[in-house]
Amino acid sequence: MTDTRPSESSDRPPTGSLVPDPRLGGHRIRGVVFDAHQIQARVRELAAEISEAYGTEDRLLVLCLLKGAFLFTSDLVRHITLPVQLDFMVAASYGDAKETSGEVTVRYDPPMDLTGRAVLLVEDIIDTGTTLAALVPRLVEQGAARVDVCALLHKREPTAVVEARWVGFDAPNSFLVGYGLDHAEDFRQLPYIASL
Ligand code: IMP
Ligand code: MG
Repeated sequence: MTDTRPSESSDRPPTGSLVPDPRLGGHRIRGVVFDAHQIQARVRELAAEISEAYGTEDRLLVLCLLKGAFLFTSDLVRHITLPVQLDFMVAASYGDAKETSGEVTVRYDPPMDLTGRAVLLVEDIIDTGTTLAALVPRLVEQGAARVDVCALLHKREPTAVVEARWVGFDAPNSFLVGYGLDHAEDFRQLPYIASL
């Protein structure tokens, strides 16, 4: 019979143990920055604040920025106690890996009419802020009554000009993976956030 009890080992990599986390596929991580329990507790706090901040009349549309925000958004909406609609946005910024060109191309945006609606854009991490600086005005142009940003992580770079109304955690200035965040498409499945 399947053991349905929560498993400690799925929440944390077995650090300090001789057994590596099989999900790392042999890659090494420097350490866990936010573990699954911390993340889930913070997600519930954010969802409670978001549920307080809007009313039914706002017709809140939660927009998940793919791919990085997929786990964060799915956990977040499950704790929001307002009726919401959910859609996705896919954006790509061009340039080399270390410096963004500042050009953000939208590959998918929500087909519904945004006129008069509140939009909550959910992002995995704010680094330079280039992505949000392009997307927020675009949604406003499409008629959204207000656009708020909820970012799981914020690197607090001085270039990031877009205000995030909600931030999960201030991030250290290192490359982070897990809980949706990738490095070359690896590590998105991890329930914790690690530094590479
Ligand atoms: P921005 O436009 O510079 O704010 O970049 C935000 C995007 O860069 C995020 O949505 C992530 O996809 C990616 N990114 C920035 N920092 C990291 C990191 O530490 N790990 C993984 N992805 C990151
Ligand atoms: Mg990414």
